[in-house]
Amino acid sequence: MQDQADAKATTIALSECRFLRACRRQPVDATPLWLMRQAGRYMPEYRALRDNHPFLEMVKTPELACQVTLQPINAFDLDAAIIFADILPPLEGMGLELEFAEGEGPILHNPIRAAADVVALRVLPPEQTLAFTLEAIGLARRELEPRGIPLIGFSGAPFTLAAYAIEGGSSRNYERVKGLMMGDPQTWHRLMEKLAGVVGQYLLAQARSGANALQLFDSWVGVLNPADYQELVMPYSRRAIEIAREGGAPIIHFGTDTSGLLELIRDAGGDVIGVDWRIDLSTAWERLGTRVAVQGNLDPIALLVPWPELERRARAVLDQAAGRPGHIFNLGHGVLPSTPTDSVKRLAEFVHEYTSG
Ligand code: CP3
Repeated sequence: MQDQADAKATTIALSECRFLRACRRQPVDATPLWLMRQAGRYMPEYRALRDNHPFLEMVKTPELACQVTLQPINAFDLDAAIIFADILPPLEGMGLELEFAEGEGPILHNPIRAAADVVALRVLPPEQTLAFTLEAIGLARRELEPRGIPLIGFSGAPFTLAAYAIEGGSSRNYERVKGLMMGDPQTWHRLMEKLAGVVGQYLLAQARSGANALQLFDSWVGVLNPADYQELVMPYSRRAIEIAREGGAPIIHFGTDTSGLLELIRDAGGDVIGVDWRIDLSTAWERLGTRVAVQGNLDPIALLVPWPELERRARAVLDQAAGRPGHIFNLGHGVLPSTPTDSVKRLAEFVHEYTSG
């Protein structure tokens, strides 16, 4: 009985943490922060593990993924953990052959190029294809709960996943994905329908496995014009978010280079909208209005410069947020591998100190 009462008490405490309160646009004692890619190669603890395990092996071994998830939480004063995983394994579950070649980034060996490739894509339950991440979420949640730290689950958004699936890897001009989208809309819609289902079910399963919030990464959506986004992408992001909503966890909808799309991204769904550094936070906020929270948006390069300049830039972001409820401090994109750990440590302390009291 006592155990049950304790478990209930910690769950209530967790739902009142800074990060989840900010997701709901409630007042907080200090601005919460976490950093995209907060677990990774800039940390010596990560590199030590990575010396002995390939990246995908780490993602697919729940104990290792849990351990990496906790590394930045143990090292810095962060307000949320994000599960250590990647946006590409769901494509593997659909039948694409994924490889992370050393120093080259991701490669998909059998990319989607024609209607028949889309027909062949499998749509299976995440419990079957992505059980390793769901299990890692359970493990990490058990460690984080007594410490009052919420856990973020995530997925790539349908467009960003389509970009990798069609290009076969990273891309400069997105010729193939935009070519298929513009040139063969019927095949495009079939692909996006499958991706929306996979993404939505994966996010929902993460919430049911213990994730306290969910982030949808539409990292490359900024290469689209608003009309194409609205007609060819937005319905599928919206669908994925609708499915995920059933899990009850707040949803962060993030994209980069989204100045031309901001209102549409908001209208596609999400409780929090994540923006990069290419737009002033105050401008983004005015455009987004008061019904969503805002996450961002320090340039990750600011972490590479000496402290006084980093502090000045962090203060500028916080001054633009101007104490409005619903700000989650983050970078505009992921932490870079060359980032000094001391900069992350000082940034976290500064954000809390500057915004408390
Ligand atoms: O934020 C976190 O700390 C959680 C973990 C996380 C990773 N990838 C770990 C990772 C998250 C949220 C991602 C998301 C992701 N992965 C995105 C969307 C976010 C973004 O940056 O826009 C994308 C586009 C990917 C695809 C991906 N994964 C690429 C292009 C690469 C190679 C580039 C690189 O930095 O080497 C990865 C590899 C990857 N994902 C690493 C990590 C820690 C580095 C792998 C290594 O240790 O070698």
